[in-house]
Amino acid sequence: MNKEMVAVLFGGQSSEHEVSCVSVQTVIKNLDMDKYDILMIGITKEGCWLKADSIEDIKSGKWRESKTHAVLSPDASVHGFLLYEGNELKTQPVDIVFPVLHGLYGEDGTIQGILELSRIPYVGCGVLSSAVSMDKFYTKVIVDEIGVLQAAYEPVLAEELVDSESVAARVESRFDYPVFIKPSRSGSSQGVHKAKNHDELITYLKDAARFDRKILVEEMIKGREIECAVLGGYAPKASGVGEIVAAAEFYDYEAKYENAESKTIIDPDLPEEVVEKIRENAVKIFKAVDGFGLSRVDFFVTEDGKAVFNEINTLPGFTSISMYPMLWAARGISTKDLVSQLIDLAKERR
Ligand SMILES: Nc1ncnc2c1ncn2[C@@H]1O[C@H](COP(=O)(O)OP(=O)(O)O)[C@@H](O)[C@H]1O
Ligand SMILES: [Mg+2]
Repeated sequence: MNKEMVAVLFGGQSSEHEVSCVSVQTVIKNLDMDKYDILMIGITKEGCWLKADSIEDIKSGKWRESKTHAVLSPDASVHGFLLYEGNELKTQPVDIVFPVLHGLYGEDGTIQGILELSRIPYVGCGVLSSAVSMDKFYTKVIVDEIGVLQAAYEPVLAEELVDSESVAARVESRFDYPVFIKPSRSGSSQGVHKAKNHDELITYLKDAARFDRKILVEEMIKGREIECAVLGGYAPKASGVGEIVAAAEFYDYEAKYENAESKTIIDPDLPEEVVEKIRENAVKIFKAVDGFGLSRVDFFVTEDGKAVFNEINTLPGFTSISMYPMLWAARGISTKDLVSQLIDLAKERR
């Protein structure tokens, strides 16, 4: 049997660059080498595309010194990459691309757009679902439409902040403190803040505006953070659920990546009907955003047992301690099977 060539993309120009470099190692280690050959392409934070030679080079960061540049060609007749070193150029066709990229310029439909032009099947959500899910404001518009419970929100545009007092008055007429402030297209909790008073509101709106022109102010939801994995093409399935126990006031960047006290619990103690509601809504939301392949859908569960949608991630973390692979492992799907299933699904997209 001829092996298929799978290209994995990692790194990327987002705040989640480092996480991606770890996620991709899990994907590579779990790629069935009897079935696939692998091409590793790293994208530096500056946006330079380079061919990596080994998983060791990814681990050590040495791939950033690679002399082989890689261009993902939008030319469908190439069906792959142009690799060049100095003046030497060659084409490298691939069968499938697995973009293991989190956040902007990877999880937001931009890479997916080149892949559509190139006609190369790729793992995960398409252009529309990636773009909508990356943008918390547009996700909310869609989730309102299907009637799933979510935090009330007030959209704010960066240019409105020239008159920040009137923005604050608008927010204060709707919500009591504390409120959550977040850039519409954030990731890794960057620019996400909890404002406890008027002054903090104004300071944090200005901070969020550094990350995106569109900002959301949300009512605070007091509850546990529960996540659900979705896998599949046009008949997607939900996993069980997992809980994030943040070792901080909320699940901020430090709590996510630097504080070993933050914990993940698979199948936490929750009433059966709450778990079922979350699983059902996770699939409903995945379908509503036109999801394909995989996503992790995040909720809050309030003290009185209400499941409140928070956000959907179309390329969730894939590290050894990430919720997405752990949730499937708990359902008997090993990470090796998971990676194979995702690659097979890529070929089913229509
Ligand atoms: N409306 C809210 N109420 C309570 N906590 C929130 C709210 N929005 C966000 N948070 C907290 O902030 C964290 C990061 O926000 P989130 O919307 O998930 O952005 P990101 O895409 O950066 O993960 C969440 O995991 C949660 O701890
Ligand atoms: Mg989040």
